[in-house]
Amino acid sequence: MNLSVNIAGVTMKNPVTTGSGTFGSGEEFSEFVDLSALGAVTTKGVANVPWPGNPTPRIAEVYGGMLNAIGLQNPGIDVMIERDLPMLQKAGAAVIVNVCGKSEKDYVEVVERLSDQPVDLLEINVSCPNVKEGGIAFGQDPKALHHITKEVKAKAKQPIIMKLSPNVTDITEMARAAVDAGTDGLSLINTLTGMKIDIEKRDFVLANKTGGMSGPAIKPVALRMVYQVANAVDVPIIGMGGISTAEDALEFIMAGATAVSVGTANFMNPAATIDVIEGIKDYMKRHQIEDIQELIGCVK
Ligand SMILES: Cc1cc2nc3c(=O)[nH]c(=O)nc-3n(C[C@H](O)[C@H](O)[C@H](O)COP(=O)(O)O)c2cc1C
Repeated sequence: MNLSVNIAGVTMKNPVTTGSGTFGSGEEFSEFVDLSALGAVTTKGVANVPWPGNPTPRIAEVYGGMLNAIGLQNPGIDVMIERDLPMLQKAGAAVIVNVCGKSEKDYVEVVERLSDQPVDLLEINVSCPNVKEGGIAFGQDPKALHHITKEVKAKAKQPIIMKLSPNVTDITEMARAAVDAGTDGLSLINTLTGMKIDIEKRDFVLANKTGGMSGPAIKPVALRMVYQVANAVDVPIIGMGGISTAEDALEFIMAGATAVSVGTANFMNPAATIDVIEGIKDYMKRHQIEDIQELIGCVK
């Protein structure tokens, strides 16, 4: 049985990776998960310099998921290169580094710093709803997305995967803009902008007022967008949004995703990624599927 997939020339031993920001650097989860069993580990977003993130409270539970407004807190690229990448290189899974920035210059700087590092793919986050400048600004305007994709692609040594925001009217317009500018693949979706109010305090629950919604409740929206994008462009897709089980992951694969990320589910079940991989194997055995390629985009 073959579970391996290819994303822009990079082989993943199975289609399962971790949602950026929900699995730390990987090390935090290695107590629960044999990292070498994963198709890839995707890191938390990293910028050119350390970012403190947003004021607290910055996470809240909501029906069917959660809101977060972390604001891309990260230790900066120097710390990641020294502390995290040597460990990830040895972990035995492909390494996907998620990159964030406030300006095109920031993104390019990170990508250039990673050029000689043991990194397989660069996931470029232009879709975080929780940072005021940069980030989402690139992810909601097709012209800006085209421009930053071109700049990053010109400097990147590894294949790039632009990560799209669902907070747009037409996701296929954004996908086309990134593909026209040369992206090697697409990730979708990032979180949907949401809000929660504490009626006793008559105040917002999150200090940032709004946050990104993730978890099981967003899955139907994410699945619809992955299907639309898979039918609009011809690059590999990493699908995500509310995946907690193998059944969820298989829906994304059948809709056209080559690989999938498990995000918020890691907070409820730290071994969710492994359960998803094992469940996909069981499904393939049960249905006598020899190669996972048979399932990618099989629902038209
Ligand atoms: C706490 C938290 C932190 C996140 N941090 C990042 C990040 O640094 N970069 C990024 O591209 N996406 C980030 N995301 C978005 C996830 O990677 C994913 O796209 C989204 O949560 C949808 O998937 P899920 O429903 O499986 O969590 C974060 C999500 C959560 C819940």
